[in-house]
Amino acid sequence: MVRTIDWVDGAVVIIDQTALPAAETWLRLSTVDDLVEAIARLAVRGAPALGVAGALGVALAAKTLPEADWADAVKRVATARPTAVNLAYGVRLAQARLDDGPDAALAAALDLRDAEIAASQAMARLGADLLLELCGPAPRLLTHCNTGGLASVTLGTALATVAELHGRGIEVSVIASETRPLLQGARLTTWELGRLGVPHRVAVDGAGPFLMARGEVDAVIVGADRVCANFDVVNKIGTYAHALGARAAGIPFIVVAPESTVDTETPTGRDVAIEDRGAAEVLGFRGAQAAPRGTDAINPAFDVTPHELVTAIVTEQRVVRPER
Ligand code: MRU
Repeated sequence: MVRTIDWVDGAVVIIDQTALPAAETWLRLSTVDDLVEAIARLAVRGAPALGVAGALGVALAAKTLPEADWADAVKRVATARPTAVNLAYGVRLAQARLDDGPDAALAAALDLRDAEIAASQAMARLGADLLLELCGPAPRLLTHCNTGGLASVTLGTALATVAELHGRGIEVSVIASETRPLLQGARLTTWELGRLGVPHRVAVDGAGPFLMARGEVDAVIVGADRVCANFDVVNKIGTYAHALGARAAGIPFIVVAPESTVDTETPTGRDVAIEDRGAAEVLGFRGAQAAPRGTDAINPAFDVTPHELVTAIVTEQRVVRPER
């Protein structure tokens, strides 16, 4: 299976997620500046992928920069985006090995890459079992943002469970919420589901709760950028609305995320720095202005779903039922 982020011949190699679905472009990031820029503009995105990017970024710093510059470079990688805990986690893992030299940091990063691949496989199995238990034999799912191999290294998180169900011959279908403003759902999730051969449709973000109320969704399944100590879930903006919709419709709201996304040091969702990506992304798309020039906007990139609304959190090790 293709790795959407990897280390190849002294550089970080990623699929450029900003170019999809129009073009499948691979980028070779051979400097820390390249990597930080790629993270900031979401060429590489999704919590587990950011963790691997962070760890590889430390290796890249150690291999390309004089030792005096390592600390500053590592800090720039760790802070390139604030909300997904995986980025800082990946950086920390590799940084802890820096005293043993660049090769040790790279080995730590490659271990994390392999651990995320294994975690995806385990989450997929646990998540698929849970969905079959909760939804019956032909789950009709709604998902938000993108949680497939693009957001991880190979299979992903929530979308990995969909792939697992499909691979088992289960009749699974998906509504991909488009995910304003950058359309990770409409651009990336559809691209991945198409390649998997899973039946899917796109809906605007605001349609989710209504489709649930109308009985067209058996469960909502999403990933996470951070799961707090009290099991509050931080994920792409729009997730909270889907969780409220799921609660109102009486259907399960499932989160699938690796243990590397669980942050026991952050007590609740209120303690998480929510990335603000500025007005331009909301006011237009790729150069096409939508709102009148001069209009202001507010653009939180993530929201917090309180743990009370979460039916289950599936990791590679466990199924947590926060309400219990
Ligand atoms: O801003 P993004 O695209 O990096 O946000 C990503 C998400 O919110 C995903 O749902 C989350 O990282 C889970 S990825 C398996």
